[in-house]
Amino acid sequence: MKIGVVGLGYVGIVTSAVLANQGHHIIGVDIDQKRVDGLNCSVNPIYEPGLDELLKKNTGRLFFTTDYSFLREVDLAFISVSTPTVNGEIYLDYVFSAAKSLSKVLRKDAVIVMKSTVLPGTSRKVREITGIETVSNPEFLKEGTAIEDSIRPDRVVIGSTSKEAGDLVEEVWKFTNAPILRTTPEEAEMIKYAANSFLAMKVSFINEIANLCEKIPGCDVNNIAKGIGFDKRISPYFLRAGLGWGGSCFPKDTLAIASYARSMGTPLRLVEAAIQVNNERPRKAVGLLKEMMGSLKDRRICVLGVAFKPDTDDTRESVSIKIIRLLKEDGATVFAYDPKAKTDLAQMTSLDECVNMSEGVIIATEWKEFIGIEEKLKGKYVVDGRRILNPSVLGYKFRAIGLGE
Ligand code: UDX
Repeated sequence: MKIGVVGLGYVGIVTSAVLANQGHHIIGVDIDQKRVDGLNCSVNPIYEPGLDELLKKNTGRLFFTTDYSFLREVDLAFISVSTPTVNGEIYLDYVFSAAKSLSKVLRKDAVIVMKSTVLPGTSRKVREITGIETVSNPEFLKEGTAIEDSIRPDRVVIGSTSKEAGDLVEEVWKFTNAPILRTTPEEAEMIKYAANSFLAMKVSFINEIANLCEKIPGCDVNNIAKGIGFDKRISPYFLRAGLGWGGSCFPKDTLAIASYARSMGTPLRLVEAAIQVNNERPRKAVGLLKEMMGSLKDRRICVLGVAFKPDTDDTRESVSIKIIRLLKEDGATVFAYDPKAKTDLAQMTSLDECVNMSEGVIIATEWKEFIGIEEKLKGKYVVDGRRILNPSVLGYKFRAIGLGE
């Protein structure tokens, strides 16, 4: 098929590469000329394991442009532009502007596929505005494992009002062999929010249990997670206690659905509580350090990990960034190290230098590189925010999330 992809962010680039690899011809459109030029020379603006190789391997089937008129011949066009939260509410202008541009160039029998995370009713609205069949096909890929998640998703959700339009989208994803769920567009849109909110809630839940475990000598939240995770109704996934969830999806999606639900007069109280619990995590990390060190004024602190999670250079809504800000507010001098991500907020240096120059260390992201560094940390005040260190090696100058003293 000839496929258009509008919005070359994380989802757009990965979708382009994965579908080109399935033999489709992809025309990717973005307003950012630099990004487009780069992608046409296989210069990929994001770090995602395996993505560079996939883009290079399929250059013959990938073309990137800022000009929508190249989409005249496509059979379907994905919309994968960002849907940020502005003042606590979802901002949909990028989606509608992409839809309007598509309506001017697409064949009347083409199909628009909504990949961006949008509130229930948005895909239907796009169909009305454009006069073109629009299918909701939410994306569930995770950064760091995006390609694997796209090729082998747990499920594919296709929400359409037209059976034929839904069938065309089904055709595209049938190679994944994943269960395919056909729904209304509104249900598909709601599934995405419900999934992200539920996962965010699960993590906030285990983080609250972690807070309680810290008060109970002999109690380790990791063992609690293991113990409850064996129960199939709970499952062992998304039960890692830590400094909370960040990234480009959970924070914005939980806020958007909570605000939408309130506007409908049916607040999602559990989701709101999950957000509140999450908002307290950065202060929690700094608090643990202060319990050991006292005032942080003029003290040198190193934050290990800047990305919102390992295997990505993405710092959007990263808990680490919030921790750095809090440390600076307390008057600390902050150093940071991350294998991929960068920040201007702290002095960034090598792992060894960062640790050696500091009195206190906070592990904010669980990069593999930080596993087994206990020897380097000896003598420092350490907060293990992601539970990757062996407490028995570090002794009394050590606090870990969810570990009772
Ligand atoms: C998420 C969803 O998983 C994905 O389905 C959706 O399409 C986009 O949002 P992503 O943001 O890439 O993906 O990261 P994910 O691996 O889900 O982690 C989100 C956050 O939760 C990270 O900050 C991570 O550190 C945190 N997390 C996750 C935990 O603290 N504990 C866990 O057990 C799992």
